[in-house]
Amino acid sequence: MRWDPAQYSRYADERGRPFIELLARIDCAAPRRVVDLGCGPGNLTALLAQRWPSAVVEGLDSSPEMISQAACVDGVAFRVEDAADWSVPVDADVVISNATLQWVPGHQELLRQWAASLPADGWLAFQVPGNFGAPSHTLMRSLADSARWAPLLGDALRHHDAVSTPVDYAELLLPAGLTAEVWETTYLHVLAGPDPVLDWVRGTGLRPVLAALADRPAPDDGDARPAADVFEAEYAAELRAAYPPTEHGTLFPFRRIFAVAHKPPS
Ligand SMILES: C[S@@+](CC[C@H](N)C(=O)[O-])C[C@H]1O[C@@H](n2cnc3c(N)ncnc32)[C@H](O)[C@@H]1O
Repeated sequence: MRWDPAQYSRYADERGRPFIELLARIDCAAPRRVVDLGCGPGNLTALLAQRWPSAVVEGLDSSPEMISQAACVDGVAFRVEDAADWSVPVDADVVISNATLQWVPGHQELLRQWAASLPADGWLAFQVPGNFGAPSHTLMRSLADSARWAPLLGDALRHHDAVSTPVDYAELLLPAGLTAEVWETTYLHVLAGPDPVLDWVRGTGLRPVLAALADRPAPDDGDARPAADVFEAEYAAELRAAYPPTEHGTLFPFRRIFAVAHKPPS
């Protein structure tokens, strides 16, 4: 699936807040190596290099488009790599992953492995969205599952179990001998412009739909528009009803789940 760094970065401030809050809870003075798994366009990885200038800082992402955008960030070694193939280097004292693991099937088992092989005194911190039951996602899934769209979209969208509960994350980190601080926050974003929720998900959750519909004709005979435009128009109308614009902007609640785990020093 292709990512679009420019579209993703349109809400860089809102998307960056959870990363900054994760980082604030990591109490590590002088890590040897710091790894950002699913680093995206690298603007947030840059904060790791600023905080720990003497560490080796690495950013990994499976998207060549994202890594190409990240290449302009100084002080970080970026490379294309799938998080599913990654294992913890012996000196990785800080591992952080923001808004990525929901894209990695079976990430819970990966977290178990990473927690087990983290070095003594190492930190493992991640954040995943917890909004798969919100209208932004349920409306997208119900439209994709409708009789008109299902033949074109198949199982392009993963289902609501892409992430676990906060309790489940604690229960996989604590038995590995780590301390774990797990919490959730619902941000209330106030978005400007027409159809801002559509614009937001265009950079993330809607990408599998856009990829599956690319270069396909509309499902209705006689409609000359590309299928992706027709889907977006129908979805936008439903989003407008679920998130009506107010005179101050569109209120967009967004729940996120955080975990910061620490392995005791030996
Ligand atoms: C929502 S973006 C988050 C980017 C960045 N961490 C941030 O907070 O701005 C999700 C990122 O995960 C990456 N990604 C998805 N699946 C991945 C995988 N299996 N391995 C590594 N990166 C992955 C995508 O390419 C994308 O850059």
